[in-house]
Amino acid sequence: MAQINPSILSADFARLADEAEAVSGTGGADWLHVDVMDNHFVPNLTLGVPVVESLRKATDTPLDCHLMIEEPDRWAPAFVEAGAGSVTFHAEAAAAPVRLAREVRAEGARASMALKPATPIEPYEDLLPELDMLLVMTVEPGFGGQAFLDIMLPKIRRTRQLIDKHGLQLWLQVDGGVSASTIERCAEAGADVFVAGSAVYGAEDPAEAVRALRRQAER
Ligand code: DX5
Ligand code: ZN
Repeated sequence: MAQINPSILSADFARLADEAEAVSGTGGADWLHVDVMDNHFVPNLTLGVPVVESLRKATDTPLDCHLMIEEPDRWAPAFVEAGAGSVTFHAEAAAAPVRLAREVRAEGARASMALKPATPIEPYEDLLPELDMLLVMTVEPGFGGQAFLDIMLPKIRRTRQLIDKHGLQLWLQVDGGVSASTIERCAEAGADVFVAGSAVYGAEDPAEAVRALRRQAER
């Protein structure tokens, strides 16, 4: 079953509650993807813990927090406490990914690790049982609306093979440039959780965009 997680990075930040509402309900968003950027790990600055706290109260849709920040080891617990149901840290930024994943799980959230396009999955094979989700970035993190990097398809495929080889249940997420024209290739390569920012919030009808993406992913 495909999961569609609209990224609020492409939403109107002054109307976040309404924008969350616009994609929730039957056939709507499985999770809301919340992009946290610190202008150090990526060259952009977005939002932090207080916004997650407020969003949590404004919607029943669970929050999938993608931390594009330095020192995720220090910050991840605060996002769980603020109401994140899933916390993704970057492999490139985490000082102690195993300890961090265990801490996130112990605090009651799903633990997830992300890989930038140039970071291979193979060195992390032994860590997979510690994770609930693995995120393969399909753009360089930092901005919405970038073109999908189809050179990442082999990495999605290899990651799916590793997950299956170990008989693991973890989800395989893709993020960046996911749209009507790229989602089928991601699904075919083995992804099952799809983040879409501009493809959802740039659409005339965001809820219909979510349903259409799901249909295509499940084709
Ligand atoms: C990019 C973020 C993405 C972004 C995706 O660094 O991690 O979540 O919102 O936006 P689109 O779907 O427009 O590429
Ligand atoms: Zn993201």
